[in-house]
Amino acid sequence: MIYPIVKYGQPVLETPALEIKEFDTEELHQLVDDMFISMYAAKGVGLAAPQIGVGKRIAVIDISSGEDPAQKLVLINPEIVDRDGSQTSEEGCLSLPSFREPVTRANKVTVRAFDAKGTQFEITGEELLARALLHETDHLNGQLYISHISPLKRDLIRRKIRKLQKANEWS
Ligand code: NI
Repeated sequence: MIYPIVKYGQPVLETPALEIKEFDTEELHQLVDDMFISMYAAKGVGLAAPQIGVGKRIAVIDISSGEDPAQKLVLINPEIVDRDGSQTSEEGCLSLPSFREPVTRANKVTVRAFDAKGTQFEITGEELLARALLHETDHLNGQLYISHISPLKRDLIRRKIRKLQKANEWS
C-alpha cells in the first residue's frame, strides 16, 4: 500500500525511532516493500519509516528513482561508521514539501546496517548517496535536515509552515 507522508510538525518525525530486533518476518518485508512504493509514489530518493508514521529504524534509498533496481537500498538499524570530506548542496525532504536549502554534509560516508533478512553489511557512498545515507539516518534519530541550517533560516521555514497550517494547507 501507498502510505501518506507525514509532514513536519508530527512528533514521530522528531522522536528517535526504535531498533528492529526481529528480522525476516512477513511484516518487516511487507513494510519495506510498502516503503519503496510510498517513496516512488512521492517521487523521493529516500524514505525513513517515521515519515509514514512508523517509529522504527528502517530506511529505504534509491538514488536512481526506480531506474536501476541494483541501487535499491534497505537500511535497518543503520549506523554511520565513517565520514570524510565535505559537500554543500540543496537538500529537501518529503516531510517538508516545497522547501529546499543548502546543507553541508560529509562527501563520503560508510554505513553499517542490516537488510530485511537480518544480514549485516556495510556500504560506502559519495556525493548524493552519502547525502541520502546521512539524511535518512538522521531521520531515524529524530533529526530533520533543517537542524543543519542556520537558526534564522530554520525559523523562517517554521513561520511559513505555521501560515500553511493556519490555511489548512499543511497536514
Ligand atoms: Ni527526509
